Amino acid sequence: MPRLTHACTPFDGQQPGTSGLRKKTRVFMQPGYVETFVQSTLNAIGGAAGKTFVVGGDGRYFNAEAIQTILRLAAANGAARVIVGQGGLLSTPAASNLIRQRGADGGLILSASHNPGGLDADFGLKYNISNGGPAPEAVTAAMYAETRTITEYHSLDSADLDLTQAGENSLDRMTVEIVDPVAEYAALMRKLFDFDRIRALIAGGFSLRFDAMHAVTGPYATAILQDELGAPKGSVLNAVPSVDFGKGHPDPNPIWAKPLVDMVMAPDGPDFAAASDGDGDRNMILGKGIYVTPSDSLAVLAANAHLVPGYARGLVGVARSMPTSTAADKVAAKLGIECFETPTGWKFFGNLLDAGRVTLCGEESAGTGSDHVREKDGLWAVLLWLNILAVRGMSVQAVLQDHWQTYGRNYYSRHDFEAIETGAANAMMAELVAKLPDLPGTAAGGSVVSAADQFCYHDPVDGSVSENQGIRIWFEDGHRAVLRLSGTGTEGATLRIYMDRYEPTTGDLAIDPGLALAGIAAAVAGISRLHAHTGRNEPDVIT
Ligand code: G1P
Ligand code: ZN
Repeated sequence: MPRLTHACTPFDGQQPGTSGLRKKTRVFMQPGYVETFVQSTLNAIGGAAGKTFVVGGDGRYFNAEAIQTILRLAAANGAARVIVGQGGLLSTPAASNLIRQRGADGGLILSASHNPGGLDADFGLKYNISNGGPAPEAVTAAMYAETRTITEYHSLDSADLDLTQAGENSLDRMTVEIVDPVAEYAALMRKLFDFDRIRALIAGGFSLRFDAMHAVTGPYATAILQDELGAPKGSVLNAVPSVDFGKGHPDPNPIWAKPLVDMVMAPDGPDFAAASDGDGDRNMILGKGIYVTPSDSLAVLAANAHLVPGYARGLVGVARSMPTSTAADKVAAKLGIECFETPTGWKFFGNLLDAGRVTLCGEESAGTGSDHVREKDGLWAVLLWLNILAVRGMSVQAVLQDHWQTYGRNYYSRHDFEAIETGAANAMMAELVAKLPDLPGTAAGGSVVSAADQFCYHDPVDGSVSENQGIRIWFEDGHRAVLRLSGTGTEGATLRIYMDRYEPTTGDLAIDPGLALAGIAAAVAGISRLHAHTGRNEPDVIT
């Protein structure tokens, strides 16, 4: 088969330290773009010769075409085998699991996560390493350097492969193995959880809804929750993946999954509801009449995981991203285990998981996971909740109330200000950084600042240092605010303001969260001169 070498133009690829290249779909569709990025990736990892890769994506627009391109590149670069999800589908956690189960050298995952899909929406591509997790900083830096100097890529002049049938095919000298995207993942879940117990819970009349948001978890949730655990047909909503996610925004939060939230808030709503995002790594957990914040979810899972077979030996430690509330810290303290605070982004958990320092980890942005894979995992979080509810025989609301009465409550919220002009956002952050040393002692929003800094992470496993990971402001009453600019947006800058207020068990555990955090929000707006810099007062998204 003719192996062709094409000239290509270097470009500014994935920024080092970010987990994947994310751009408008039309950018990815430019001739030679995917090729240049994939060849750069293969060059950066020392070539593809003799290697095995896992490839799959969330099914968004251009998923199928990009996979064909990747297969041609991999074959022309001498890869031995590529394992592809049937129909080009693999959720991010399922891809992570496949890389690990099959001892692959790495994987390419096609997704822009929770961002909309379509010709005029977003696309993304990311490389995961052999532990199943996102490429660490050293690898992304090498990939970036390659994209800026690359001059040629290798490909094949070959017809598209049919990805709809499971089985083995060959492409030149490379084997293309097409696998059921769900099978190995479901097998892992069966090992971790007491499926009989969850089945009995559901058979006993416990009702649930899972919103796949027209994205990749549809087939996974249908197979596991309905076909295997016995949830009635119709329990999984929006279960068929579509290229534009039904023109929706596959982001499982109270804004984009509002119909689901409305459902559980209704008197005749289900006992439990959950949703996942485009590529299946995020989760939102709801119970009848209640929304569980991701920070609380991590804490509840940490406190109860030992009730579930896969975690019966207890946890070795927990980790949370810095902006995530400190609710999990309280559980770790009580359990007498280590608790780590890492920068935003799943890749920082990888070293801790590989080194056996933590079992559970999570982020406020609807990401929860454990050492079973090296990505966050939406459906896993749902099954862990269901298994815990089945053992405890309590409602979501009762579990949460009991948790707050035991550990105290962290009122928590994140405000997102989207598509701010990049220059204005940078100027605001720079001004704030400059005045950090002067903040302690100043009054703001009815409180007094006690300390302020920029978060710097020293990785306890490999000693690497990550600086400037967000601004932290503490107040004398123990409240905390965090400000950082998003690293995943595709339009202008997104400012995130995170607010965390801890009430001990003796405090008021039933305040409206918006009211509980109003003082911190006002303090941050004043200190940062938010309106003067950005013209904004109200956030676009509150989670
Ligand atoms: C966001 C989330 C972060 C998550 C990342 C990838 O990043 O805040 O927790 O790891 O998406 O899903 P950000 O846009 O804030 O940089
Ligand atoms: Zn995602």
